[in-house]
Amino acid sequence: MAGTDTGVGQMTSGAPDTAGPVMAATGITVRFGGLTALSEVGLEVPTGTIVGLVGPNGAGKSTLFAVLSGLLRPASGRVFLRGKDVTNASPQLRAREGLARTFQQPELFMGLTVREHVVLAHRVRFARQRLWRDMMDPRSLLPPARAENERVDQLLELLDLTHVARASVGALPLGTSRLVEIARALATRPDVVLLDEPLSGLDMRESENLASVFRRVVENDEHRVSLLMVEHDVATVLSLSSKIFVLDFGELIASGTPAEIRSNAAVRSAYLGDDDDNNTTPAGPKEAP
Ligand SMILES: Nc1ncnc2c1ncn2[C@@H]1O[C@H](COP(=O)(O)OP(=O)(O)OP(=O)(O)O)[C@@H](O)[C@H]1O
Ligand SMILES: [Mg+2]
Repeated sequence: MAGTDTGVGQMTSGAPDTAGPVMAATGITVRFGGLTALSEVGLEVPTGTIVGLVGPNGAGKSTLFAVLSGLLRPASGRVFLRGKDVTNASPQLRAREGLARTFQQPELFMGLTVREHVVLAHRVRFARQRLWRDMMDPRSLLPPARAENERVDQLLELLDLTHVARASVGALPLGTSRLVEIARALATRPDVVLLDEPLSGLDMRESENLASVFRRVVENDEHRVSLLMVEHDVATVLSLSSKIFVLDFGELIASGTPAEIRSNAAVRSAYLGDDDDNNTTPAGPKEAP
């Protein structure tokens, strides 16, 4: 891969770059009026891995996600998907380049079943003509073709959703709705999925289940999907991710393996405050189990 000062390859044409990181950002700066929400932030997501993005409240995590997904244009910096510069690309174009995302509040269609959600998402990427007919008359949703059926079945199985495939999404608990959102994102066969606080609001059992689903998804996907996760549950992020990036006040203060992050003085200080005697502060990177 052609190197740059930042070590991130830049390839604006030709075949997709499969050797380098699936997603990368360099020198991202975002200002809201006088506030610098992100200052020269860079990040890389290797292929087929789980990467965590953590930091205290207001650190700039959601702002960085907005930049990566194309909802917010940075004042400076570049975003790359498989080495291709997508800094000026719309969210729709990025989706076609292999980027998917989930939202903190699952945005599901109440009248449709779990299976129909996954079928529709699959169609958005792989059968646009069928999708067009579906949109013209949603009541006559075309039955899935065989290849579509197989892929959808595999996904439902992988995410432990087979038993609720025919249930309407309106009746599902939050943990299951999150799984449906993730199944829907994966149905577009993305290279990378951005997950915005996927564990928030879940009870311990649901969180543990989702964490094991994430592991399974990355391990089993022959397509080698990557997951980039913003999450306040730092213990789970440390246990799941092969690499973690830590933001504080808009600056990248650390990046590295879970072991490196656990022992990083700047990270401990950001979460615990500078006062070493203040052991009552509840938030902070806990040791992973
Ligand atoms: N649209 C906006 N206009 C003005 N300021 C904003 C806007 N969005 C975010 N900010 C500010 O930018 C900074 C970073 O916010 P951001 O939401 O990215 O933090 P975060 O790390 O996601 O925090 P949290 O963990 O609370 O979700 C904060 O100071 C926030 O108040
Ligand atoms: Mg946020």
